[in-house]
Amino acid sequence: MKGKILVTGGVGYIGSHTTVELQNAGFEVVIVDNLSNSNENVLDGIEKISGVRPAFEKVDCTDMAGMTQVFDKYPGIKGIIHFAASKAVGESVEKPLMYYRNNIDSLLNLLELMPKYNVEGIVFSSSCTVYGQPDKLPVDESAPIQPALSPYGNTKQINEEIIRDAIHAQAPYKSIILRYFNPIGAHTSAEIGELPNGVPQNLLPFLTQTAMGIRKELSVYGDDYNTPDGSCIRDYINVVDLSKAHVIAIERMLNNVSDAKLEYFNLGTGNGVSVLGLIKTFEEATGVKVPYKIVGRREGDIEQIWADPRYANEVLGWTAKETLDDTVRSAWAWQLKLRERGIM
Ligand code: NAD
Ligand code: WQD
Repeated sequence: MKGKILVTGGVGYIGSHTTVELQNAGFEVVIVDNLSNSNENVLDGIEKISGVRPAFEKVDCTDMAGMTQVFDKYPGIKGIIHFAASKAVGESVEKPLMYYRNNIDSLLNLLELMPKYNVEGIVFSSSCTVYGQPDKLPVDESAPIQPALSPYGNTKQINEEIIRDAIHAQAPYKSIILRYFNPIGAHTSAEIGELPNGVPQNLLPFLTQTAMGIRKELSVYGDDYNTPDGSCIRDYINVVDLSKAHVIAIERMLNNVSDAKLEYFNLGTGNGVSVLGLIKTFEEATGVKVPYKIVGRREGDIEQIWADPRYANEVLGWTAKETLDDTVRSAWAWQLKLRERGIM
């Protein structure tokens, strides 16, 4: 066993895939999740794939007493991967205080507990949203942070600043901040995947639900952008590829591969794909039609962004490997599995 890792939000979309990869790599995982955006039966999927059921505590990260009990119950936690957060951009505009309370208090509690329990490092889930619309594409880690377009985006920026300031003040731990581009897809086993609550706000779950007939048609938000086909461009990254980067980040901190106390990495493929391009890729890869219509722009959308992932490629020795075809096929297999299970 390589050591005990606390995965907050480990029942969620990216956390569940990362738990599988951590366990496959020989780490012992303790999950804390309040199940506000996930279901406990995800643990069955994790167990099926990896053969190990991770320890699970239904605790809210904003609850300091509850979190202290977790550290007491599982002595020797060496590292934390902090996924737990509220993440819906639109909801954050309507309920900003809820977003600030949840996303900021959760991190503050962890950072205060880490020195008390000798935790050596924390990996933080940030987002390319911190770059806003970059002047230069592809965007690398040195690009300026732009004013946030939503309270959710602002919580990511504030969390990055909190970690930076704590490390600057000689906190006795390291941190790696991972800025994800657009994670999509599911584990190839289709045992775990993305399960959004209600009507999906993100493109791929809406697309697969439309292909399934759950939604009538997909609205493409704008075809009058300054891009080759007029629709917005993103860097869609396979969730398993993304998860593997977390294992490398944890190993890097715990094995002192670098002296750096704080590092930032973009996690993307380096390829920009338009909304219309993604629909076409999905239709060709799966043979399933996606009814769609062009509608007006969505407020707050960035026109185009994709990663320069070279720093992560070179320094972490990590590269996104899955093709977009295989990735959308994995998302479709997951959607079919949800139907088979009678969930959707
Ligand atoms: P998710 O909602 O599927 O997973 C988050 C998990 O955290 C859920 O299981 C939820 O129940 C839990 N949670 C929320 N608040 C909690 C709290 N206070 N205490 C304990 N558990 C709590 O989201 P995800 O897509 O897996 O995202 C994981 C992280 O990555 C989040 O921090 C998110 O902001 C960040 N991120 C996601 C994306 C994306 O597109 N999915 C992109 C960039 C960054
Ligand atoms: C992708 C593209 C839409 C839905 C958001 C957050 C970001 C990050 C991921 C966490 C855009 C278009 C979408 C639809 C569409 N989360 N679209 N019809 O906007 O890049 O990022 O989620 O950090 O912070 O802002 O992702 O999946 O919502 O949209 O045309 O029904 O698909 O306009 O161009 P986005 P998304």
